[in-house]
Amino acid sequence: MNDYGIARDNALKLLEQYLHQENLRKHCLATEAVMRGLAKRLDQDEEMWALAGLLHDLDYNETKDDITRHGLVTAKILEEKGVRGEIIDAIKAHNAENLGITRTKPIHFAITAGETITGLIVATTLIYPDKKIKSVKPKSIVKRMGETSFARNVSRSKIMLCEKLGLALPDFVNICLNSMAEIDKDLGLV
Ligand SMILES: [Fe+2]
Repeated sequence: MNDYGIARDNALKLLEQYLHQENLRKHCLATEAVMRGLAKRLDQDEEMWALAGLLHDLDYNETKDDITRHGLVTAKILEEKGVRGEIIDAIKAHNAENLGITRTKPIHFAITAGETITGLIVATTLIYPDKKIKSVKPKSIVKRMGETSFARNVSRSKIMLCEKLGLALPDFVNICLNSMAEIDKDLGLV
């Protein structure tokens, strides 16, 4: 076993088991890519950040009607598998507001801002005529940040947690957009 308590292959199998909706799985893959890109840029543990991103919404179906359990059910599943505590803590941190916990580490801010911006990036891509993520300019994403009626469910304040990573918004957008563009086929945005 690796240092993380779970291999990516097995993490993907868990996603297949718990998240049957295609769009949810894509969201998890997008978050994985973003986390990997952020870890690389910030000289952090890429594999650990990526696994946290990939698995962060594993209990979505089970907890969608009770947000105060979102992350806790995943924590239990992963604890039983012996997944590394830092990954589990990061997953809980993405729902810190509803769990009454505090974000303290870079990975906590990254997973929160990172998973949130995936929504804004997908929404922006889908209004491009060709719906290709590779056509999207970082500037368009930054512009949409200010249009609160656009993708109104995407929390701008969570995205702004990127500043806790020492990344200004345009820089953060750039990293996340490029990371998602690398897996454009998996995301169906080609
Ligand atoms: Fe998510």
